[in-house]
Amino acid sequence: MSNWKATAQAFPNIALIKYWGNRDQALRLPSNPSLSMNLAGLTTITTVEFDPALKQDVFVLGGREIGGQGLERVSRFLDQVRMKTSEVFETSEVSTLFAHVDSRNNFPPGAGLASSASGFAALAVAASAAAGLQLSEAELSRLARLGSGSACRSVPGGFVEWAVGADDRSSYACSIAPADHWDLCDIVALIDVEHKAVGSTEGHAVADTSPLQAARVATAPDRLAQARSAVLARDFAALADVVELDSLMMHAVMITSSPVLMYWQPATIAVMHAVRQWRANGLAACATIDAGPNVHVLCPAEAADEVALRLRVIPGVRQVISARAGGPAHLISNP
Ligand code: PMV
Repeated sequence: MSNWKATAQAFPNIALIKYWGNRDQALRLPSNPSLSMNLAGLTTITTVEFDPALKQDVFVLGGREIGGQGLERVSRFLDQVRMKTSEVFETSEVSTLFAHVDSRNNFPPGAGLASSASGFAALAVAASAAAGLQLSEAELSRLARLGSGSACRSVPGGFVEWAVGADDRSSYACSIAPADHWDLCDIVALIDVEHKAVGSTEGHAVADTSPLQAARVATAPDRLAQARSAVLARDFAALADVVELDSLMMHAVMITSSPVLMYWQPATIAVMHAVRQWRANGLAACATIDAGPNVHVLCPAEAADEVALRLRVIPGVRQVISARAGGPAHLISNP
């Protein structure tokens, strides 16, 4: 075992106000600000070890060695960490070493459950610690952003806002309230857990081809301000309307992009209709969907059991997973 080893844990996050489209694709500087909640119970645990015996980076996900684009993306990310060590330390052995990365999720990757968010947040924390870097939360959030935009929001804890920022230095996420501020739950209706055909990196790249994106981006700061106030005031009714509107605006952009990105399946729409009906009849619940067919149904903790029960009997819903607000990404071990 080398001295350059660390393990970190991170939670995925569900965006209440969505990030879709970049001003700078390479640096993942977003077109609009976003707001999310970390999801406790769904976890990624990642161990990174820089090893002088390795001739290239190795990436193992869920016990399977990954090559091709998956490995390239992780390697490019590790290059940023290696570069940082040579900036910070006068002589840095780590800057020339390859790493072994072992990552495990306790939920299905690639199905709109934000595994890239928790994945790159855990990787940022583990890889920087393994390399001997001591980065602040803002620096870790910036680093995670380079792997996946939404990963910057899985670094701080609880309810998290990512302001667009002017450049690489100023684009990072901060907590607006800790996880115990509000017992909000995310009951996820899993409709399809296959890896999606078009990932979010390609999706962001075509967002500007939709004639609706400019209007979505221009009005996002207003929705964010409404959602922030609703979270701070624990006002579910105010939050529900703006969360559903914002998710539908993002999917309107996706559906009108070139090429068309249609993540919804029939059961996705069935769940959305059901949730609207439940809310009209007095059950506090609202629906939001990321880049996949699964529906995240948000509700106060008191309504969580009832929401899960009702979701389970909707045809096409294969499984229901419940999560509450989660804390920050953190180290588990760094010998
Ligand atoms: O971080 P990415 O590149 O996987 O993009 C995430 C985009 C959405 O999940 C659809 C929205 C969001 O803000 O999380």
